[in-house]
Amino acid sequence: MSKLPLVEGLLRYTNENNIPFAMPGHKGGQGFLSTDIGKEIYSNILKIDITEVDGVDNLHNPDGIIKEAEELLSRFYKSRKSYFLVNGSTSGNLAMIFSAFSEGDKVIVERNCHRSIFNGILMRKLKPIYIRNKISNKFNAPMSVDMEHFLSLIEDNKDAKGIIITYPNYYGVCPDLKFIINEAQKYNMKVLVDSAHGAHFGVHDALPESPVKLGADMVVMSCHKTLSSLTQTAYLHVGENVDIEKVDFYVSAFLSTSPSYMLMASMDYGRYWIEEYGRKGYEELIKIANIFRNKINKLKFLHVLDSDDIYNIDLSRYVINLNKGLSGHKLLEYLRSRKIQAEMSDASNVVLIFSPFNKEQDFETLYKVLSECNVELLKEEQRIIYKLHIPKAELMPWQIVDMKKRSVFINEAEGKVCGKAVVPYPPGIPLVNPGEIIDKTALDMIRYYVENKVTILGIDNEHITVVE
Ligand SMILES: Cc1ncc(COP(=O)(O)O)c(C=O)c1O
Repeated sequence: MSKLPLVEGLLRYTNENNIPFAMPGHKGGQGFLSTDIGKEIYSNILKIDITEVDGVDNLHNPDGIIKEAEELLSRFYKSRKSYFLVNGSTSGNLAMIFSAFSEGDKVIVERNCHRSIFNGILMRKLKPIYIRNKISNKFNAPMSVDMEHFLSLIEDNKDAKGIIITYPNYYGVCPDLKFIINEAQKYNMKVLVDSAHGAHFGVHDALPESPVKLGADMVVMSCHKTLSSLTQTAYLHVGENVDIEKVDFYVSAFLSTSPSYMLMASMDYGRYWIEEYGRKGYEELIKIANIFRNKINKLKFLHVLDSDDIYNIDLSRYVINLNKGLSGHKLLEYLRSRKIQAEMSDASNVVLIFSPFNKEQDFETLYKVLSECNVELLKEEQRIIYKLHIPKAELMPWQIVDMKKRSVFINEAEGKVCGKAVVPYPPGIPLVNPGEIIDKTALDMIRYYVENKVTILGIDNEHITVVE
């Protein structure tokens, strides 16, 4: 047995030298090595791992260099105030939900949101009203919010205090955020945006607009996903309609009291790079990505999604959609066997995330590897995503936490209250959330997924957790 299993595992991985079409955005340090100041950070990275000594300021009460860096961040993104977060967008989503809402508030929230949003809703004891997401049967993938459903919900829930939206989702698909914000403003609702995948938005015309510029009240961005910043880093941006004192308190409450200067320095650098070089960098990246999308799309077994397929989509990532009967998971494995690291796969798609630090050669290799793919190896019985359904809530998610639960066979679960979220992958959208009644439609869908051997969290050996 190894004495250093984690270290050796990581070193083994880095020695594979895979092409990084996954997070983080600095792509194996290339983002730092692209500038003189970045090279200095790179070569001093362990030396800047210090504690709060004189002259280096304090993230929990910034009045020196951290304050200056956060002001530059705010100026660049055009927010009222911006924060560095050392615990990822996860901490940002929690801080944003806690500072924007009070216990018992009703919120309208996209059903396909990240689990940190579900957790925030639960811990803040909110009443969620879910907006259905659209699902593309053509691409067998979750799309953005169903606007008709959103409009009917807002009409029926004018007392809601706010709306929580993901912009973009993992597939780079964005809703019409401007429209959502305009609707919300009519009823004095706050708009909170999880833009974990959108820190680069707005730097180039070919990218979707920045959610801060579109007028969202609060926006969270994982700079580590797309910018030259270390994993676990994120930004929170706050607009006019928000109580800054509360945000200060909750940001501080959800962050470590020993924030890493390596992480903070990388956040300052991530902002610096995108501000100084981002427009040109994305100009070149999108040009190359478009050229290779056209080439790759000549291959007969797949289709890389484009703005002709989906109107508001991030062109700095590829969603490779496979022909019916071929598996996205198997394509991801094949790419890895050929030293290409993709970000994620589902039954029919593979997502690749690029940044300006990917080289043209990386795209050449991708094209070559895809052209050489033995399509026979990707064959798998097709699993089509079922329709979306949101069951009625009997209890709020937070009420479930301390209740006694038990596991029952799915055929005996009808009418019982769900004790643990049931989430099939794909599409990764909860079928039943804690507190919701497990109804016949939900059960039919669960059986469908079980029979089709789709990975489904919350179902164990055809058993489901219910409240006693
Ligand atoms: C939409 C979305 N929101 C939030 C998060 C959490 O981000 P982080 O990993 O920076 O905490 C993720 C992570 O993948 C995400 O996809």
